[in-house]
Amino acid sequence: MSKLFFHHIAPAPEDPIFGLQVAFEKDPRPDKINLSVGVYKNDQLITPVLESVKEAEAFLIREEKTKDYLPIGGDPVFLQQIGALIFGDFFWSGEGKRICGAQVPGGTGGLRIGGEFLKQEVGEKIVISDPTWPNHKGVFESCKMIVGHYPYYDRKKNALAFERMCEVLKDLTPGTVVVMHACCHNPTGADLSLEQWKELLGVFQDKGLLPLFDFAYQGWGKGLEEDAGGVRLFAQAGLEMLVVGSQSKNFGLYSERIGALFIVTESQKTAEVVRSKIKTIIRTNYSNPPRHGAAIVGHILSTPHLRAKWEKEMGAMRERIAKFRKRFVEELSFRSLKKDYRYMAEGSGMFCYTGLDQRQVERMQKEFAVYLTSDGRMNLAGLSDENLLRVVEDITRLI
Ligand SMILES: Cc1ncc(COP(=O)(O)O)c(C=O)c1O
Repeated sequence: MSKLFFHHIAPAPEDPIFGLQVAFEKDPRPDKINLSVGVYKNDQLITPVLESVKEAEAFLIREEKTKDYLPIGGDPVFLQQIGALIFGDFFWSGEGKRICGAQVPGGTGGLRIGGEFLKQEVGEKIVISDPTWPNHKGVFESCKMIVGHYPYYDRKKNALAFERMCEVLKDLTPGTVVVMHACCHNPTGADLSLEQWKELLGVFQDKGLLPLFDFAYQGWGKGLEEDAGGVRLFAQAGLEMLVVGSQSKNFGLYSERIGALFIVTESQKTAEVVRSKIKTIIRTNYSNPPRHGAAIVGHILSTPHLRAKWEKEMGAMRERIAKFRKRFVEELSFRSLKKDYRYMAEGSGMFCYTGLDQRQVERMQKEFAVYLTSDGRMNLAGLSDENLLRVVEDITRLI
C-alpha cells in the first residue's frame, strides 16, 4: 500500500458564525428564525441583488470587452472611486498621492494582505477590540502576528469602555498596530463619537501607535460621509495608517468578494515602495484579483444616475435596519421591565448585543428555533413584521 499523508489530521472546528448557518439550514422546524450571520435581509427576509447592481451588470454584459487578467493591484477605476468614498476630498488633494491602494477579495482579503504586509515590514504586535468580529484573531494569527486585545465594551454597563480603552492603548509598545472598527462595531453596535475619535487620535500621536481601520459597513451607521469621520480625522492629522474597506455589505456584493486596502504613508515615494510590496504579497497569494465585483462598483460610482440609485438603495437598507432596531427595543422594553434596553437603541449598524448569555442563546436555538451568535449578538436585519413579536416574546421568556 502506498504511504498515507492525511489520515493523522484532526478536524478543524466549524467557523462559529458560518457553522450556525449550516445548523440553521439543517433545522427542520418551519418557523425557524435566523438572526446570526451578518448579511442584510429585506422584508421578505431575502438578501437581494440591488437594482443598481443589476443595471451595472446588464451594462457589463453588453459592453465588457475582455476577461483578461486585471493588474495585480486591481481595477484602477474601482480603486479611485472607493478611495474617494472613504477619504473624501483628502483623496483628490495632493495628499492623496501618499495613499497606496489595492483591490482585494473582500474585507477579509484586505485584512489578510494588510496583516502579511505588517508582519513582513512593520512589526508583529497587533491588538483587536474586546469583543470583535471573531475572524480578526484568526486572520492576524494566520499572518503569524501576536494578537492582543484592548477593552472596548463594558457588558455590565452596556456601554463603551472608552476610558479603559484609552488607558490600555497608552500602555502599548510604540509601533503596535491597533485594529479599530471605523463604524457599526461588530458585534456591539457601539461606535465612538467624533469627540472620542479626537481624543483617541491624541493617544495614537503621543504613543506612536499604527491604526488599522476595518471599514466593513460604510453607509450603514449614520451615512456615507459621517461614517468616515474617524478615518478622515486620522488621515488629515497626518498619521500613517491602513484602511480596509468592503463592498460586501453596502453594495450587497457578498459573494463577489470585493474590497479595498489602502495604506496611507508619509510621502508619494513611500507609497510607491509600499505598493510594490503589496503587489508582491498579492502575486504570491492569488496572483491578481477578480474582475466582476470591481467592475460593478466602479461603474456604479462613476455613473451619476447609477450612483444616485445606489445611494438611495443603500440608504433604504440602513433605514430598514434602524427601523427594526427601534421597534425591537420598544417591544422589548414594553414587555420586560426587568432591564433598561435603551442602550440598544443608541447602537448603529446591523448588530446589537441582546445581553443574552451563551446558555440563553443555546435555549433560544433549541427551544424556540431562533438563531443568534453565542455572545448574544443579533442581526437586526433578520427581523420582520412577521417574526418581531415572536423573537421578543421568546427573549422575555428567558430573561
Ligand atoms: C468587522 C468586519 N470586518 C470584516 C468583515 C469581512 O467582510 P467581507 O465579507 O467583505 O470579507 C466583516 C464581515 O462580517 C466584518 O463584520
